[in-house]
Amino acid sequence: MDSRFQTDGISLYQGDALRVLTTLPVASVDAVLTDPPYSSGGITLGARQADPSQKYQSSGTKRQYPPMLGDAKDQRSWIMWCTLWLGECWRVARDGAPLMVFTDWRQLPSLSDAVQAAGWKWLGIVPWDKRSARPQIGKFRQQCEYVLFAVKGRFIAHTRACLPGVYAHPVISSQKVHLTSKPVALIEDLLAVTPPGAIVLDPFMGGGSVGEACVRTGRSYVGIELSQEYYDISRKRLESVQAECGSVVE
Ligand SMILES: C[S@@+](CC[C@H](N)C(=O)[O-])C[C@H]1O[C@@H](n2cnc3c(N)ncnc32)[C@H](O)[C@@H]1O
Repeated sequence: MDSRFQTDGISLYQGDALRVLTTLPVASVDAVLTDPPYSSGGITLGARQADPSQKYQSSGTKRQYPPMLGDAKDQRSWIMWCTLWLGECWRVARDGAPLMVFTDWRQLPSLSDAVQAAGWKWLGIVPWDKRSARPQIGKFRQQCEYVLFAVKGRFIAHTRACLPGVYAHPVISSQKVHLTSKPVALIEDLLAVTPPGAIVLDPFMGGGSVGEACVRTGRSYVGIELSQEYYDISRKRLESVQAECGSVVE
């Protein structure tokens, strides 16, 4: 039986995203913002099946994080799997809901195929400039990750601002609770395309950065995580951010 936790504006599920998504009602969320396992890090199956800490952490980095699950699919199965969960997200999203999905340079073309196969209308990509990357002699640094931006049906503007095309936010290692934690400030910027007070779905919660940004910007959050350790970490983190922001816990 999957665990479930609910407080004012936050619903968290511990379990497999695909299974949990099928239990959520049709047209019940206003936006999807998520950061799935990339299953990236190399072009051979052996390279992809390496421990994520070897694939995504610079050599010499000492900090240990709980294991990140589900990151060893080969290319075809990764695309099929993404199409399945993106299709469930499409069913659960309201008409006009924006979709934002993190990816890296290797998986960007495959993710754009899966997003469209699942029914979303692709609107573009938002590069995230991480401000640092491993230097590579004679080559360009892979200093950006990407947020694939799409919509269910017709796009609805929720701000009169003209938003930037690139966001630069460093990863602050002292704030990391997950091997691939995303900066909360970046997520807060991305939430500009969602309605104020939106219900935001994140099927791959990890250490809870999307949830924290939702609480801080007054949005509701639905998070799903397979790892019991990350589920517990996120739950504690979001309860403490809620307490700091003065939300009422039921
Ligand atoms: C890239 S991380 C998310 C990191 C998060 N954005 C953060 O800032 O902390 C992806 C997460 O998805 C989880 N995961 C992998 N397969 C899953 C599945 N089938 N269902 C739900 N969660 C899954 C992993 O354990 C991992 O924590």
